Parts: sequence; C-alpha cells; structure tokens
Amino acid sequence: MTRRKKIYEGKAKILYEGPEPGTLIQYFKDDASAFNDQKKAVLEGKGVINNRISEYVMTKLNIIGIHNHLIKRMNLREQLIREVEMIPLKVVCRNIAAGSLATRFGLPEGQVLPRSILEFHYKDDKLNSPVVTEEHITAFNWATTQEIDDMMAMTLRINDFLSGLFSAVNITLVDFKIEYGRVFENDFARIILADEISPDSCRLWDSTTNEKLDKDRFRRDMGSVIESYTEVARRLGIMQEMPTVIQGGKV
Ligand code: TMP
Repeated sequence: MTRRKKIYEGKAKILYEGPEPGTLIQYFKDDASAFNDQKKAVLEGKGVINNRISEYVMTKLNIIGIHNHLIKRMNLREQLIREVEMIPLKVVCRNIAAGSLATRFGLPEGQVLPRSILEFHYKDDKLNSPVVTEEHITAFNWATTQEIDDMMAMTLRINDFLSGLFSAVNITLVDFKIEYGRVFENDFARIILADEISPDSCRLWDSTTNEKLDKDRFRRDMGSVIESYTEVARRLGIMQEMPTVIQGGKV
C-alpha cells in the first residue's frame, strides 16, 4: 500500500493528497479540542458521525445551488474534496445568543436575536481567532469586497436552509461557523463553501427542551457527547448507515 502524502493536519481533520490534481482527501479524526487546545479528548466515533452529517448537509446545499468542496464521501472517515485556496476567515452566523456573543455583550444565553448576525473571525488560533471587520479583511488582502459580499450572501442562504432542515427534525440552529475557499476557473476566482458542517461547528438545541446536542456538551463537561451527535444523525434519518458499534451507542 502506498503512503499518502499528508498536506495538513488540523485539530479534527487531516488533509491528504487526492488521487487527481485539484483533489484532496479529507479525513475526520475522533480528536476533540476546545478553548484553543487547552481541553482535549478523543471521542471514539466522532469522526465517523461528523463525516456522514457533513456529507449529508453539503449534498443538500449543493442541490440548492450552494457550491461546496465535497465531491463524494469515500468511506466511514474520508471524503474526496476539491482543493481550494482557503480564505483565512471563520464566518459565524448567529440566530440566538450563546457562546462568545453572549459573553461579549452580556446577553442571556438563549435570547433570540433581532435578526441573524454575521461575524468574520481571523483564522489564527494563536490569536484566539479575533473578530475582524471588512476594513481588516480588505486591508490585509484576506478577501476582496466582492468576495465578502459573496460570503455574506451565501452564509445567509445556508442559514435559512439549515434552519429549516433542522427545524423539521425539532432541532434549533442556534449558530454555526463555516469556512470558504477560492477555486480558479479560466482565470476567474470563485468562492465555494469548504471545511465541514457538523455538531462540532454548529450549536444545535432540541427545539422542545433546549437540550444541547452539539460540541458545547464537550466544552462544558456535560457528558453524552457522542450520544448527542448520534441523536442529530438519527433525527436527520442517516443513522441506519452507521456502523453497528455507533448505532448501539457503544462508542
Ligand atoms: P462562539 O460562540 O464560540 O464564537 O462560536 C460560534 C459558533 O461557531 C459555534 O457554533 C461554534 C462555532 N465555531 C467553531 O466551530 N470554531 C471556531 O473556531 C469558532 C470561533 C466558532
């Protein structure tokens, strides 16, 4: 067996060289981290569930015209993806006050926001991914004004679509983080959605009880992290394809 070339290793994923130029393989690890790596654990089965949930969501988004890097899921832990030039920004969209927004503005967690709020964070863990404005983004050449407009419009569409998708299975989309990359076609650059969308990168609450079904369970030591991720997959109707070890909740 030939060893694949590792291109990048992040906290929850590894990127390997893909089978053809312009492709990569995205591998989902079981590692979980929070608070800038100060808290770490291995949550057995997390990578498998996130790979499947992210594939499901990205495929649905593609159908409604939100182009993204997913080509296909290859196996339990890997996806074949398009290679993109990552934009060094985390785009956060919030519908309900929670997490760092609640802390920064002294808002009670759970307060419905007057409208959805978009934030750009500069992607640098050493700097704690600070919030940045369009001024910073254009001055430092991280993205053009046109690209900022595209990311904002796409993120709001993703928010509308995902809010509906989760609401249909009694889950409230509180907030989420996404990342974008550039692809080059005939000398033109275009922005597409990249990275992942999973309970690691979204806040998802049971709409009836407000029970957390996302990574806050890990951040706040609430327990039952995998069980909650599994519950999200179950409600989305994609649990039957999971290996039996995860289906039985024994991971
Ligand atoms: P925050 O409240 O900590 O700023 O996070 C807002 C949402 O974005 C929450 O769903 C978690 C997600 N997020 C990430 O997944 N990774 C990140 O680095 C950041 C800043 C947020």
